[in-house]
Amino acid sequence: MSKPLQNRIALVTGASSGLGRHFAITLAKAGAKVAVAARRVDKLDDLVAEIATFDGHALPIALDVTDPASVTEAVRVAETELGAIGILVNNAGIVQAKPALEIDEADWEYVIGTNLTGAWRVAREVARHMVRMGHGGSIINMASILGEGVTKQLSTYAISKAGVVQMTRALALELAKDNIRVNAMAPGYIATELNQEYFETDIGKALINKIPQRRLGQPEDLDGTLMLLAGDGSAFMTGSVITVDGGHTLAIA
Ligand SMILES: NC(=O)c1ccc[n+]([C@@H]2O[C@H](COP(=O)([O-])OP(=O)(O)OC[C@H]3O[C@@H](n4cnc5c(N)ncnc54)[C@H](OP(=O)(O)O)[C@@H]3O)[C@@H](O)[C@H]2O)c1
Repeated sequence: MSKPLQNRIALVTGASSGLGRHFAITLAKAGAKVAVAARRVDKLDDLVAEIATFDGHALPIALDVTDPASVTEAVRVAETELGAIGILVNNAGIVQAKPALEIDEADWEYVIGTNLTGAWRVAREVARHMVRMGHGGSIINMASILGEGVTKQLSTYAISKAGVVQMTRALALELAKDNIRVNAMAPGYIATELNQEYFETDIGKALINKIPQRRLGQPEDLDGTLMLLAGDGSAFMTGSVITVDGGHTLAIA
């Protein structure tokens, strides 16, 4: 039986853990050949081995999104080894919790440089290839509910994700003529390495109680949105930002 993403080529950044790792498995199960990219290549090797257990196909690629040369090289390797990238899951990201007035230049550069500049760099490079190859494609940016709302101690993160939301819209507008769709997912709190420690604290547990569904999301909760945006079901969607948060952002108080 043919799979929904059979013969598609995908690049997933930040695939060494958390959501990126999960997305790579979901795309591979749907038939895509997946270039899995991050700095920790040993973890990517484990992921490739896991994907091989269900006869999926993945390629590990070293990538640091803060390094322009690394981004160019990673996209080149993915296209040389697997073929023209049709799906980008622009997922690599970090978080740093600090009071706003304690954030120094290095902190700012660390978070904005990874989450916003890094995501822009990868999107631009992949989109350039898509335009050159003339086949179009789907770019899926990882935003966050903190791209719209804010919370204490996470100002750089929220600012970076607000930038990702506007980057999504701006690129969608310019790239629609090239048959490239650019959309974003804005998850609420999903249980991953990024926030594991935080949700074991009392403050973290209290926050879970404020989510209308009274639970953290699991990576699988994003699969429906991922598959929609990656596949032809979203052919007429571009510039959309899809919130997936268990109702977290519904209530004013
Ligand atoms: N979990 C949530 O609740 C949540 C909610 C909303 C949005 N998000 C977003 O979803 C994305 C994934 O988050 P996650 O929860 O899965 O976090 P995670 O488990 O910490 O994974 C982050 C990934 O990003 C990679 N990464 C970090 N810096 C990088 C760099 N300079 N170059 C290349 N890769 C880099 C890491 O790989 P290496 O360290 O191996 O490079 C890792 O694979 C992020 O953009 C995050 O902001 C998460």
